[in-house]
Amino acid sequence: MATILDLHSPSVFIGKQGNGVISFGSGQPDLPPPREAVEDIDIRKDLRYGLIQGEPALREKLSKEYPNSTADNFVITNGASEALDLVFRSISPGKVLVPRPYYYSYPPIIKLAGMEPVYTDLVGGRIDIDDFKKKVKGCKAVLINSPSNPTGCVEAIETLKEIEKVTADLGVYVISDEVYKDLIYERENYYIKGEHVITVNSFSKTYAMCGVRVGYLWSSDQRVADDVIKIKTHTSMNTNLVGQDMALRAMSVPRSYIRDQQEIWRRRRDFIYKGFRELGFELWRPEGAFYILPRCANAREFVSLLYNEYKVIVYLGEWFGAPDHIRLSYALDMSEIEEGLSRIKDAMKKVRCF
Ligand SMILES: Cc1ncc(COP(=O)(O)O)c(C=O)c1O
Repeated sequence: MATILDLHSPSVFIGKQGNGVISFGSGQPDLPPPREAVEDIDIRKDLRYGLIQGEPALREKLSKEYPNSTADNFVITNGASEALDLVFRSISPGKVLVPRPYYYSYPPIIKLAGMEPVYTDLVGGRIDIDDFKKKVKGCKAVLINSPSNPTGCVEAIETLKEIEKVTADLGVYVISDEVYKDLIYERENYYIKGEHVITVNSFSKTYAMCGVRVGYLWSSDQRVADDVIKIKTHTSMNTNLVGQDMALRAMSVPRSYIRDQQEIWRRRRDFIYKGFRELGFELWRPEGAFYILPRCANAREFVSLLYNEYKVIVYLGEWFGAPDHIRLSYALDMSEIEEGLSRIKDAMKKVRCF
């Protein structure tokens, strides 16, 4: 029998590529960033220290996208990842309510900040508002991610409005991770608003700039930005200026750039969803982001086999709080998705998936 990999965390696979490997792992868009983002960048002017809060021009531009905002409401960070880390450290200690399955970094980020994650299990991919209301009492914050990694679900608008109200009444922060905000295929989303809301976003997905590491947080409560800046001053300091310049330029591309991308993601979504259904897997049809989360028995064995013998990377559902599932990103070219599906079909002859 082939060796079972030590699948302790996604770091086993993050960044692995080449040598015929097909990776359905990281949610890293294969599409190029907008041409405008990379052309004519004057790198030398950007090699200095910058403002901890982020470059004024980028924050100014962002403020046009958030009603009643000014540049002061934003802090530019090393991706959404740093924004989450800084936010939790600045509001620590306390409990954070997290819908499960969740993005795999949420529990570690929350724990590293000295906070305690508590979970509400999704029902049919959606928040169960009754369970949510029970568990939110006594929490300092809740973490919402719609569209979601790993479910691909977009939360029901009614539920989001209820969450907005319940949390406002209780004085609980809502951390809204909106990195897939521009990646919705099916219907409208609703973005929770209010003094108690801290929005986290990123240039990684919409503009295909994952490795540049630029994201941000927004809050209408000035104390949030001030507290975050106090921490960032002594940790990463400013976010890299070349990346901020790229982000600013990316924001000037017409909205059609995003719409064109959505069409590509939608085609891939349709293709992979149909492919997995035909293979016999049970899964939700994604409404946003670019992930599927099929149910899979013997998931550990299957993930190991796929990598060791078929050079296919898929993630273990367990990392996302979804045991007996596997998680795949379809942020890769259609021909690779097709080849990956064919290898998965072959591997299914060796491990029982249902
Ligand atoms: C839900 C979610 N939040 C945050 C991140 C981190 O994004 P960034 O590259 O901006 O740090 C990811 C990355 O996959 C994600 O899926």
